[in-house]
Amino acid sequence: MSSPDTPPVFQRCVSPRCGATLPMEDTSFRCPTCGGLMDVAYDWNRLPTPKHLSEFEAKWSRRTTPVDFSGVWRFRELLPFAQTSQILTIGEGQTILQKADVLAQKLGMRPDSLHLQYEGMNPSGSFKDNGMTAAFTHARITGARRAACASTGNTSASLASYCSATGLMRGIVFIGSGKISYGKLAQALDHHALTMQIAGDFDDAMARVQQVARRLGVYLVNSINPFRLEGQKTIMLRVLEALAWEPPDWIIVPGGNLGNSSAFGKAYMELKDLGLVKRIPRLAVINAAGARTFDTLVNEKNIRWNQGNPDSAAIDTFFKDLDAHDGRANTIASAIEINRPVNLVKALRAIEVMNGIVRRADDQEIMDAKALIGAHGLGCEPASAASLAGLIQLREQRIIAPSDRVVCILTAHQMKDPTATVAYHSADQEQFQKVLGVRGVKRASHANRAVQVPNDLEAICGAIELYA
Ligand code: F0G
Repeated sequence: MSSPDTPPVFQRCVSPRCGATLPMEDTSFRCPTCGGLMDVAYDWNRLPTPKHLSEFEAKWSRRTTPVDFSGVWRFRELLPFAQTSQILTIGEGQTILQKADVLAQKLGMRPDSLHLQYEGMNPSGSFKDNGMTAAFTHARITGARRAACASTGNTSASLASYCSATGLMRGIVFIGSGKISYGKLAQALDHHALTMQIAGDFDDAMARVQQVARRLGVYLVNSINPFRLEGQKTIMLRVLEALAWEPPDWIIVPGGNLGNSSAFGKAYMELKDLGLVKRIPRLAVINAAGARTFDTLVNEKNIRWNQGNPDSAAIDTFFKDLDAHDGRANTIASAIEINRPVNLVKALRAIEVMNGIVRRADDQEIMDAKALIGAHGLGCEPASAASLAGLIQLREQRIIAPSDRVVCILTAHQMKDPTATVAYHSADQEQFQKVLGVRGVKRASHANRAVQVPNDLEAICGAIELYA
């Protein structure tokens, strides 16, 4: 905790054993003492906090003010690192929690038990905007002129969008070659980000962008940046808001770089400390089977937060083995095709705080779950569907009961990756094989095939009568 002479907002090493601090304005995002991850830390005693979460409802009547309209900044008392005048918002966070009763019934769950949190409704079509508005606000405070990220596509789309919409910074995005869906590449290009397509995958791009940011003094917006995660905490606040401030039993989220999982854990840690919730939901983090570092470390190597002392020797050995075998991530869920998650240690803390578990879903499970979501709601991209694939497993394993209240986070919009969706529903075997078969997807259990008809009124009407 800071003394009355120090500012009430600062950065602190995530390791309680180290606990080194940095000023809020620092942009290195690495602990100067042990090299670990940093948190944004608050001296809550010196900051105005709500007595009850329902106090945020007062903001609803002030929606013409941009910071009250924003689904991130209307909760600004719980991420109080910026003055209201410093906040950069493009109207992010207007997302919905959709009750999914028909889908729940299919999974043997009771009415009212399953909800889908649609983060694809953000301006750039993914949850990333929650974090980007917070990182951009911090970048502006520090006087940054250039911002960069490595990305599987959504972070780059979000960065490019904030750069072009605010005109305040030049965006530079690093993407792996051939690893990004066209929907997302289109966004980076259309919003005029400097797009660096490097020969390598996301993990290569992530390592490079950190070197480049250090050398050129470019502001880094990947989720290693703790200010981004402050914005992503608000996904949990909006879920609570939609459930009349009553925590659900389970939150299920896809795990890639593990920023969301980490942010959710921090959100609940703080809400509990501030006395704003009595109960903490359980967290289920779902890896893709082809990018299963977190699942392996937690379930096979038994790595735990361990009061801030995870077994770093075992973690190092795991990554050395991965390097020795050139272990590349490989999944149709390209957004989470990540083998070296930067937020690993924070995510271990989240598992501790939220009594969490980790699972992995293969590409067949992910694509079938995605089709089920599409058939029962607004739709999502493959990576997002890992959450429902995880729920299906956890129902089968009887870890989640029919009456448990479950929220699956759908991280991005259906239109982000139409190639995978069309291949799944296509009757064209060649197309199916090219996109999905090579990933080990054998069936399209919930396919909705287009009906081929001659351009003839009788034939068209006949087909409609037959099928609808
Ligand atoms: N879902 C989608 C749609 C994503 O784009 C990502 C990450 C994740 C899930 C995983 O979230 O990293 O918080 O565990 N996409 C990043 C990107 C890596 O570059 O767009 P996480």
